[in-house]
Amino acid sequence: MTPAEARGTFPALAKLVYLNAGSIGPLAVPTVEAMRAQESKGLERGRGSASAFLEVFALGIGLRRRLAALVGVPVESMVPTGSTTEGCNIVITGLRLGPDDEVVTTDAEHPGLLRPLLASGARVRQARVMGRPAAEALDAVLTEVTPSTRLVAISHVLWRNGQVLPLAEIKRATGLPLLVDGAQAVGAIPVEAKVADYYAFSGQKWLCGPEGTGGLYVADPASLQPRMQGFAAEVATDALRLAITLPPPASLAGLTAALDQLPDWGFTRAVELVGHCRALLLESGVEVRTEPGQGTLISFRLLGDPVAIEQQAEQRGVIIRSLPDGWLRASVGRWNDHDDLERLGAVVRELS
Ligand SMILES: Cc1ncc(COP(=O)(O)O)c(C=O)c1O
Repeated sequence: MTPAEARGTFPALAKLVYLNAGSIGPLAVPTVEAMRAQESKGLERGRGSASAFLEVFALGIGLRRRLAALVGVPVESMVPTGSTTEGCNIVITGLRLGPDDEVVTTDAEHPGLLRPLLASGARVRQARVMGRPAAEALDAVLTEVTPSTRLVAISHVLWRNGQVLPLAEIKRATGLPLLVDGAQAVGAIPVEAKVADYYAFSGQKWLCGPEGTGGLYVADPASLQPRMQGFAAEVATDALRLAITLPPPASLAGLTAALDQLPDWGFTRAVELVGHCRALLLESGVEVRTEPGQGTLISFRLLGDPVAIEQQAEQRGVIIRSLPDGWLRASVGRWNDHDDLERLGAVVRELS
């Protein structure tokens, strides 16, 4: 499928300049059709027959295999989840951290990772990465490591500015268990989850799947003593035993369909578009805090109330996001095109 054909499968893109996959990605027609078909089956034949259970079981097994392949890990180490937040919570609670333990994270983490860390009872040390060059991130993390550090827990791509953290270097230099929040990475940039011990990600963002979907890679399930358990703990012996509840059948079907549609040109196209977006914003005279060559989020600032700017942009058909620290964010996806970016540039110039 060509980029133009793929774009045509996302109805919202016909009307909007959609630049907010960092919150939630656009939906494609085949994804929604797969969800509807799954719901219709439940409607028509009842949900609890033996054949229906078997079918949903097969759907879950298939999706688990697909998620594992997507991030380059063995299927036995993949847990389908409802979100990145759920994956982070499974790992952090399962590590049974206490007041004598320290966790190193950064000052740029989303609540989906930060809140479970703060709730863990461990002392949380935040490496200062915001407002500093990407090249200093490794040192910033290492500065916070002490003999009491039990876990390094960081994003792959920072949600505030798109910066990519050097996961392999951090793992190599610390040798510590590494939990990665991959919410802004999986589907946006190439990911090999094996770089970490635990890697959590979302289905509804860059994979364009349904809400309430995600995955968690766990290299060694025995390293966790789960605090929340359910049916999966009864029947599974590998990482699947960590699953708390599985996504509903329609979501399993929708995410499977979304994965079927991932094009092989997606990452290269996104790199080109995000570079173009950054250049356009700079040409428009806007302050941009995202360095070149990072992820697919570009963070920029205009004078004025960011929430009002977000709303004014929406009135002009451009969907961007205001961030809690007063900056704005454009999420540039493989489904966008140069026209979208020109329209963003025009709105930014108008609202500047
Ligand atoms: C870095 C990061 N982590 C976690 C999340 C939360 O993702 P989910 O809703 O899948 O838990 C987000 C969502 O915005 C995010 O940007």
